[in-house]
Amino acid sequence: MSLRLDALPDPAARILDELRAPPRLVAHLTLVHDVAGRLVSALRKRWPRLSFDAEAVAFGAALHDVGKAVVREELSQPGDRHEALGEQLLLSRGVPAHLARFARTHAQSEREALALEDLLVTLADKVWKGTRDEPLDPDSHQLEKNFRRRDV
Ligand SMILES: [Fe+2]
Repeated sequence: MSLRLDALPDPAARILDELRAPPRLVAHLTLVHDVAGRLVSALRKRWPRLSFDAEAVAFGAALHDVGKAVVREELSQPGDRHEALGEQLLLSRGVPAHLARFARTHAQSEREALALEDLLVTLADKVWKGTRDEPLDPDSHQLEKNFRRRDV
C-alpha cells in the first residue's frame, strides 16, 4: 500500500508558510485534507447529484487547525483557543468568511446547525484522531439528516 497524499491547496500552503507553521501541524493538516478529498470522492460516487462545495471542504480541511500555528501548546494539549483565533487569523489575511469558518466549526458541538461541508471537515479530522464521535457515527444518522436537507 502506498501513502501518496494530495498536496495542500496553494493558498492554504502559502498561509501556513507565512505563519511558519510547525511541521507537526502541516503533517496533520495534510492528512486531514487528504481524508477530506477521499470523503468527497466517495460522496460524489455514491450520490452524484448531491450538491456541495468540494473546494470549500478542501480548503477547510487544509486550514481547520491553522490557529494552532499561533496557539502552539494546543498541538499537544487539549484546548479551544485555536478555533476562534484561527478564524480571525484567516479573516485578517483576506480569506472569505465562508472559508475561514472551518477553523471555528470543526470542533463545534452544535452540529445540527452545521452545513454538510463543515461535517465533512469535522469527520476527516476525527478519522485522523482515531476517535469516534457519536453525532458523526453512521448509526446516528447525522450525515444522512444533513443530506435530506439538500436536494439529492
Ligand atoms: Fe485537526
